[in-house]
Amino acid sequence: MIKIRGESPLDYTLVGEIYQLAFGRDNEGNLVDSIRKSDRNIPELSLVAELDGTVVGHILFSYIDLVGAETWRMLSLAPIAVIPEFQNQGIGSALVQKGLEVAEAMGEFLVIVLGHPQFYPRFGFEPSVIYGIESPFPVPDEVFMVKWLKSCQGDYRGKVIYPSVFNEV
Ligand SMILES: CC(C)(COP(=O)(O)OP(=O)(O)OC[C@H]1O[C@@H](n2cnc3c(N)ncnc32)[C@H](O)[C@@H]1OP(=O)(O)O)[C@@H](O)C(=O)NCCC(=O)NCCS
Repeated sequence: MIKIRGESPLDYTLVGEIYQLAFGRDNEGNLVDSIRKSDRNIPELSLVAELDGTVVGHILFSYIDLVGAETWRMLSLAPIAVIPEFQNQGIGSALVQKGLEVAEAMGEFLVIVLGHPQFYPRFGFEPSVIYGIESPFPVPDEVFMVKWLKSCQGDYRGKVIYPSVFNEV
């Protein structure tokens, strides 16, 4: 039975271990630590997945900027990980789904992700170029995606700027 809940400080060590296991390195876990300490952190959007009471996955959304006619504050989905032996059981999808619901309820309107084009479109993510939203990285169009939440009103175009904490990955 999968349960998605808000992360607590008691989960921090385990969350770091999840990223180490999923990516085989410390960069993503260190990114989570840095975001938690930054003014871009959103405690309500740091979620863990529990399977039968054991924490096996984590997702974090934080604030980034979209710079166009104005500078707008948007959400970045990054990072996400599920312990390898528990992957492909719907846990990552449950984390993304719950995160999008919480973001929507908070009145957020755009989520940006740099990630697998086979995974994120199932949640409504589309290549950002469709909407005139430019990636700051030289990556293929299909991996830089956006998801509009229902609360969206207006025309937002420009270039995404990640805070410096993201330079660590
Ligand atoms: C990506 C990740 C969080 C997905 O979690 P999960 O619990 O396995 O996800 P789900 O079971 O809900 O969904 C699995 C689907 O995601 C797809 N998927 C997972 N990793 C993928 C990858 N690297 N490339 C393409 N597709 C991938 C699977 O093929 C599967 O597709 P299917 O449903 O069509 O069979 C997990 O695989 C993970 O931690 N990977 C290592 C870390 C990582 O890559 N994080 C994301 C960075 S963008």
